[in-house]
Amino acid sequence: MTYRLCVIPGDGVGREVIPCAVEALQRALPGLVTVEADAGWDCFQRTGNPLPEATVAKIAECGAALFGAVSSPSKKVEGYRSPIIQMRQRFDLYANLRPTKGLEIGGYRPVAAPSISDPQSSSGRPAVDLLIVRENTQGLYAGRERMQGEEAIAERVITRAASERIARVAFALARERARRHVTIVHKANILPITDGVFRDAVRAVGAAYPDVTIGEMLVDTAAMMLASRPAEFDVIVTTNLFGDILSDVASVWGGGMGVAPALNLGDGVAIAEPVHGSAPDIAGKGIANPCGAILSAALLARHYWQLPDVANRIEQAVYGAIESGVRTPDLGGQATTRDVTAEVMQRI
Ligand code: NAI
Ligand code: MG
Repeated sequence: MTYRLCVIPGDGVGREVIPCAVEALQRALPGLVTVEADAGWDCFQRTGNPLPEATVAKIAECGAALFGAVSSPSKKVEGYRSPIIQMRQRFDLYANLRPTKGLEIGGYRPVAAPSISDPQSSSGRPAVDLLIVRENTQGLYAGRERMQGEEAIAERVITRAASERIARVAFALARERARRHVTIVHKANILPITDGVFRDAVRAVGAAYPDVTIGEMLVDTAAMMLASRPAEFDVIVTTNLFGDILSDVASVWGGGMGVAPALNLGDGVAIAEPVHGSAPDIAGKGIANPCGAILSAALLARHYWQLPDVANRIEQAVYGAIESGVRTPDLGGQATTRDVTAEVMQRI
């Protein structure tokens, strides 16, 4: 079997961390074939198109893609639309998996995943090991924003079918985990129609997974709980914007933006991407943390290519490197992007 990967570095630190992730993946998966493709703000400046058709074709041809980050202006620019949002919609990448594994704050020492028999980590602090399953095509990201006279309106679109398919992803993944618990996060007290559809659809799907327990929580409470007692969560399933925000909150427990990985998954192609953006404040300095990008490549191996051994080797190498003290400044260290990558490569 030949594994093919479309590599889309994008802008800013995307160009620095994505080559590291490709190297790591190639080390763990020899024979991996890569194809480079262009997207983002810089691409838009050069070509007038932030997501050229040639890139879309390369993603379709490879099946798997690794995307860095792009710089998107926060003002509307005619002709520009964030390519990652476009890719999610074009390839119907309806599930966004965002795991967080706890690194102990201070020493950033990774803690063991809790189990029912041993719910405490070695330090006595409960271990954080959670997975946010974010609906990735609807909600407030449906792209229905407009002016109507004096009113600025964004429509929040939720369908039962999309809620059911994201629920199936969440329950299937929960079933493979130690705690087998899904928390439905919503705001149905204020949005009873849209979030009512979401909550009821997820609950209905959950009935087919009697071995997985279900809870629900309002999104504001979930934000507070993620900030204060993150170890209490196993799998969280939620709508698009809530998942975007909550995964940034959760990422803090795993070492922050430089470490957080993500995978966009559909029924056809999959696109892995670190959660962070183009980080203009540190771009070009050679100090971006490559761990988020490398862990994203591991998610591709685990969930798309179904190669858990490859994923485990990469993840252990990343956590081993962090634990050994080879850390970029965002984790309190002095290592460069290349230093961390070299350490990870050697451990793979
Ligand atoms: P950001 O994620 O780029 O940066 C937030 C903070 O995290 C900054 O302090 C940055 O230095 C730090 N950081 C990010 N990645 C890091 C890494 N690998 N290592 C160490 N530190 C890292 O978010 P921000 O600043 O809000 O947005 C910057 C640009 O990125 C904007 O144009 C935004 O539109 C874009 N963006 C793109 C995303 C994507 O393409 N998927 C996602 C988020 C933002
Ligand atoms: Mg985000």
